[in-house]
Amino acid sequence: MNHFLDIHLTDPADLRGIIDQAATMKNARLGRPRGAPDDTQPLKDHMVALIFEKPSTRTRVSFDVGVRQMGGQTMVLSGSDMQLGHGETIADTARVLSRYVDLIMIRTFDEAVLTEMAEFATVPVINGLTDRTHPCQIMADILTFEEHRGPIAGKKVVWSGDGNNVCSSFLHAAGQFGFDLTFTGPPTLDPEPEFIDLARSKGVNVAVERDPAKAVEGADLVVTDTWVSMHDAQSARERRHNQLRPYRVDAALMSHAKPEALFMHCLPAHRDDEATSEVMDGPQSVIFDEAENRLHAQKAIMRWCLAV
Ligand code: CP
Ligand code: NVA
Repeated sequence: MNHFLDIHLTDPADLRGIIDQAATMKNARLGRPRGAPDDTQPLKDHMVALIFEKPSTRTRVSFDVGVRQMGGQTMVLSGSDMQLGHGETIADTARVLSRYVDLIMIRTFDEAVLTEMAEFATVPVINGLTDRTHPCQIMADILTFEEHRGPIAGKKVVWSGDGNNVCSSFLHAAGQFGFDLTFTGPPTLDPEPEFIDLARSKGVNVAVERDPAKAVEGADLVVTDTWVSMHDAQSARERRHNQLRPYRVDAALMSHAKPEALFMHCLPAHRDDEATSEVMDGPQSVIFDEAENRLHAQKAIMRWCLAV
């Protein structure tokens, strides 16, 4: 049994295996209706709990569809409707759920909730986003990059904007998959220094460059995300917008990257804030491939967790 809590906590060979299996499973489904079962049904007779303490479109639907394609069943639970949201401990919730289900995916605020769930559950736990990280998203993004451009090892990824949870998981992935990452954004919204140090300790180049045009020079991939995440105070919205506006990804910024550079955004987007619609809908954008690949990447993650 394996938990999938974070990319830096997962062995690089296992991460590679997950990406490769995701690609294989995706290809095996080409041309089939979404509801058609996979040829192999590794989750047959398996019950999966999907717990959401924050809103979600992609994570909710892609996990649900993925489990069903692999022959399993799901229950989607809202944290506020569970006793968890009314004082029951995470440890007790984890022990109880482990008596009913074979796998738990949780989207929550505090990372401590995820780690406590994993500590006390006797079934695998998957991180469906915390305030600090979003590993499933970045697995889908690696799959997407490699489908379009081949191996990501040795490439230059530029993150423009807020050094948030999605950026943190990109930093973790840089160390594990061996690509370089340049962060460009205001100093108040830098990524966690601990995660920068961790990536550097694995031998990849991590740079912080305040000038966005300089940062994207030679980029193979430019990535951004919302300027106000679900865990950020709405009162900080205006200040964040003012600080982040110079880091908006527009056609002028993309022109400094390699001509074949891709553009990614995990979605949901605030169009024409963090990125212009011209870029989001342009030929370099792979945002909807990323969204689709959440399904395929997470199916492989679930199989790895359950060793099925
Ligand atoms: N990218 C992502 O996790 O989207 P949702 O919030 O819709 O799940
Ligand atoms: N950084 C965003 C990602 C949403 C998928 C958030 O946490 O709200």
